[in-house]
Amino acid sequence: ADLKNYHTFGVPAIAEYLTEIHSIEEIREAIDYARSHNLQLNVFGGGSNVLFKNNPQGLTVVNKITGIEVVQETDKEVELSVGAGEIWHDFVLYCLDHKYYGIENLSLIPGTVGAAPMQNIGAYGVEIKEVFKHLDAVHRETKELERFNNEECQFGYRTSVFKTSQRDNYIIARVNFILSKVPAPNISYGAISNTLEEMGISSPTPRDVSNAVIQIRSSKLPDPKQIGNAGSFFKNPSIPSEEYARLKTKFPEIPGYSQPDETVKVPAGWLIEQCGWKGKKVGNTGAHKKQALVLVNYGNAKGQEIYDLSEQILKSVHDKFGIDLEREVNII
Ligand code: EPU
Repeated sequence: ADLKNYHTFGVPAIAEYLTEIHSIEEIREAIDYARSHNLQLNVFGGGSNVLFKNNPQGLTVVNKITGIEVVQETDKEVELSVGAGEIWHDFVLYCLDHKYYGIENLSLIPGTVGAAPMQNIGAYGVEIKEVFKHLDAVHRETKELERFNNEECQFGYRTSVFKTSQRDNYIIARVNFILSKVPAPNISYGAISNTLEEMGISSPTPRDVSNAVIQIRSSKLPDPKQIGNAGSFFKNPSIPSEEYARLKTKFPEIPGYSQPDETVKVPAGWLIEQCGWKGKKVGNTGAHKKQALVLVNYGNAKGQEIYDLSEQILKSVHDKFGIDLEREVNII
């Protein structure tokens, strides 16, 4: 089955077997099927953080578990239980419509609710871990439904236990969030406050913040429906502060954000731009002209070509700055 409609990079990818699952019971059936036919099992949500270098082997499962339920609420807060297959941005809009606040900064992030905790999605000063209560996931061996609370997910910058020690061990079914009923817009990120100012808004509502984020993202990030991509291709590297100081003498312009652990986070987009990749076309691929961290497919690229470009970028950033970037996108 062609995976064209199941991922955002627009590269050719064919699944040996493909099925959509809509319930925990169907997750278990897919596990049984894969086991009895000796097939590898791959699970996807929105396919917005994956590059198919090769065709996925075995059974590819697309998580379509939906539904948003109020579990409990007070005057101040609400707990929601959300199906892993819900589209993340639709969930953000649902919350705004119902006056539930806390994720407006995460507007327009592609992908599904179930994929969001795996890499602790974040943007414009907010990460999902700040509103995350727990998730329920089916263990691939035992088929038991297990609950992971916030701490057990071991959230970090674009990571969780589901990308590290428990990688490929669970299929996430539902995610519970605690959202506030009291608006508390977070406009700490410069791009947001600037955009709100341009919009002529001095005391923004959460809806205003969402609109500002939507405006920023759509002006910088390519729409996957037009130009295939998977958002940031690499993570922003954190380097020891001494190394940062050393680089600063050689590259006085180098941006950096001090982290609590005494490292400095450097924007990968800047490093890539300095190596001359921004807006550069290499065959059918390139680094986006408005955001060098986003690798794009201009039309007929194969996964391998995009991967090769990422290798070249890794090498040139290493050679110029001595920094080894890490891919943020999952490579199949
Ligand atoms: N920059 C450049 N050239 C570029 C791109 C960026 O010099 O081509 C520098 C600028 O100094 C800019 C800084 O990088 O001030 C930060 O850029 P931006 O605000 O666009 O954010 P980012 O660090 O490149 C991260 C996330 C994005 C998220 C934005 C906003 C990662 C890997 N990426 O990007 O997340 O939307 O911050 O918070 O952390 C994603 O994960 O797929 C993603 C899009």
